[in-house]
Amino acid sequence: QKPKVVVTRALPQTAQRLLDAESGLEIVQWPSEQPCERPWLLEHSKDAAGILLMLTDTCDEKLLQAAGGNLKVIASFSVGTDHVERDALKKRNIRLGYTPTCLTDAVADLTVMLILMAQRVGGEAMRKVLAGEWPQMPWSPLLMTGPQIRSATVGFLGFGRIAQATLKRLLPFGISGAIYLTSKPGQPVRDDHFGLIKEAYIPIEPAKDWKQLASESDVVIVGCALTPSTKHFVNSEFFAHMRKLSVLINIARGPIVDTDALVKALEEGQIFGAGLDVVENEPNIAIHHPLLKQPRCVLVPHIGSATIETREQMATESVRNLLAGLKGEAMVNEVEL
Ligand code: GLV
Ligand code: GLV
Repeated sequence: QKPKVVVTRALPQTAQRLLDAESGLEIVQWPSEQPCERPWLLEHSKDAAGILLMLTDTCDEKLLQAAGGNLKVIASFSVGTDHVERDALKKRNIRLGYTPTCLTDAVADLTVMLILMAQRVGGEAMRKVLAGEWPQMPWSPLLMTGPQIRSATVGFLGFGRIAQATLKRLLPFGISGAIYLTSKPGQPVRDDHFGLIKEAYIPIEPAKDWKQLASESDVVIVGCALTPSTKHFVNSEFFAHMRKLSVLINIARGPIVDTDALVKALEEGQIFGAGLDVVENEPNIAIHHPLLKQPRCVLVPHIGSATIETREQMATESVRNLLAGLKGEAMVNEVEL
């Protein structure tokens, strides 16, 4: 009997071909671009040797129990792994693959887009034009003015690959400095961007604590993993320390930012604006949610890595991780559990 693998989504072409070429496997695949239904996943995972899943699929005790003792590998089509219960995998010796490197540039690009959109009120500007309001708001010296990126101090919560690739993109805008907080303070910045950062003639320094980061940054970028200690890390106290003309950017995971506190900070002018790729309880944000009424909030639907090239690479890398896990070989990228 062929080992069974479960794949929870239709995959981009190159990756699908790579998977389909594996004639030694029984491939059970959710056929659609929409998230796979939980009961389908639980039912079809029985006796699976490997599961390739998305960040929209929760990988917990229940799924692992449904799969049973044959399961060797989970390959996640994502950089984040907060949807996976690592301890449950570890105690069963199940390996976890993920795609942390190939999406770095795509997410850093989107981060820059969100910074500029938030500072320059891009969302509201376009909404007004689409609503036919341009005739009522002719060019005017102070119309839709926002803070400029030149001379900004940029604060990073989390200083991994994506944060550093973002910093690299921001240097030519003339930012004046960067500060960062990281859960691994002893670690040097990563090799792939270190050369550039050494050559950057602006100060790039660890923050003493979150208060310094909040109070000295004109742009705060949330780029850390979601863990119990980062949940609601950006809360009302954090906003209270932020600068009035600053913007908050979140390209990591929604629950790191307390949404109610963000709404209040925007309403009360504690900060200038926000640029979000993720939000708590996404994608279920109601049309009447107060966040959507904030003119200075730009919210896009978790599209950070959504370039054609990157999604192909993520898919291909996920398939490679799945196959390597089945064969007991080295993965492209494996989480140390
Ligand atoms: C996207 O959020 C990812 O984790 O890949
Ligand atoms: C996040 O940006 C990471 O790669 O650590």
